[in-house]
Amino acid sequence: MKKVDCQYIKSPLNYTGNKLRIFPQISKFFPKQIDCMIDLFCGGATVGINTNAKKIIFVDNNQFVINLLVYLSRINVDLFLRNCERLIKKYNLSCSYKYGYKIYRNQCKNKNDNNGLKDYNKKGFYILRKDYNSLKNKNTDEALTMLYLLMVYGFNNDLRFNSDGQFNLPVGKTDLNKNNVLKIKQYSEKIKKITAQFICADFRSENLIKLIKKADFIYMDPPYLLGDAVYNVGWNNDSEHSLLDLIDYLIKNKKSFALSNVISKKNKINEPLCYWSKKRSRYISIHHIKYNYRSASYNKIERDCEEKEILICNKNYIK
Ligand SMILES: C[S@@+](CC[C@H](N)C(=O)[O-])C[C@H]1O[C@@H](n2cnc3c(N)ncnc32)[C@H](O)[C@@H]1O
Repeated sequence: MKKVDCQYIKSPLNYTGNKLRIFPQISKFFPKQIDCMIDLFCGGATVGINTNAKKIIFVDNNQFVINLLVYLSRINVDLFLRNCERLIKKYNLSCSYKYGYKIYRNQCKNKNDNNGLKDYNKKGFYILRKDYNSLKNKNTDEALTMLYLLMVYGFNNDLRFNSDGQFNLPVGKTDLNKNNVLKIKQYSEKIKKITAQFICADFRSENLIKLIKKADFIYMDPPYLLGDAVYNVGWNNDSEHSLLDLIDYLIKNKKSFALSNVISKKNKINEPLCYWSKKRSRYISIHHIKYNYRSASYNKIERDCEEKEILICNKNYIK
């Protein structure tokens, strides 16, 4: 499969499960003209930001994610980077986008391990995390810059908080590198050109139904019942059934939609979705997503058997 070319914008949030690599596969089933799209369960905003629509409403129930997306859409990039550099200096972190990788890697204890810059950044990262967690107001520019840095220096570049709202991931292997800076620049440029609204809400909220009434296309990428990402916590059979009720509402109200999901994984099946899609076969079409877009280090055939990713949309999208 061809590598996805760089005409697409990469999210600065490095979101686990983001749809960048399969964007061409899913977007060909989107309506050709969209006035108002809802990117429901937007995560890093990858789908909305790459879709051609007059207005895009990004919805996610993670307040930290929404705050970060809003912040990064209104920053002056040069000023933001200067603030990052000030904090990087304060916490003695590596800064490979400016000074390269080797200089820091050479200072790590074990130069033959596979831990990237973890050893170099360990001490400063945990002080930064402690300082961030002790902030009363987490929605200031300073707090959001700290959170951005926690993400790029943190484990797997994920965002994870405990029930008290404390960021709780350990240090990771990476830092503020050229790729991250490029993503910030591209996102900032693109988001300023489009009409975007960011809303922190649960998909079951009444507010969402009001938004749906105004929209003409709803893309949904919920946590997968068979998934295990950090944002899967709390997603269960009840959530899945509520989501299917919402899609029934979309079908009934003749709204265009597309749903990403995983229908089976190893020997497990997403039973509610399977049952529902059989019952709704008059209204929906199911498109199988080629799985081998993922990590090349996996045996592709094995991985294809392991997980079946799909896109479900209204029947009239079949070409
Ligand atoms: C699979 S990820 C979305 C990834 C995204 N499409 C991307 O490309 O980056 C699922 C998202 O759903 C959000 N989420 C989980 N439960 C939710 C709920 N009850 N209501 C709204 N959003 C929810 C999570 O915070 C997470 O960002």
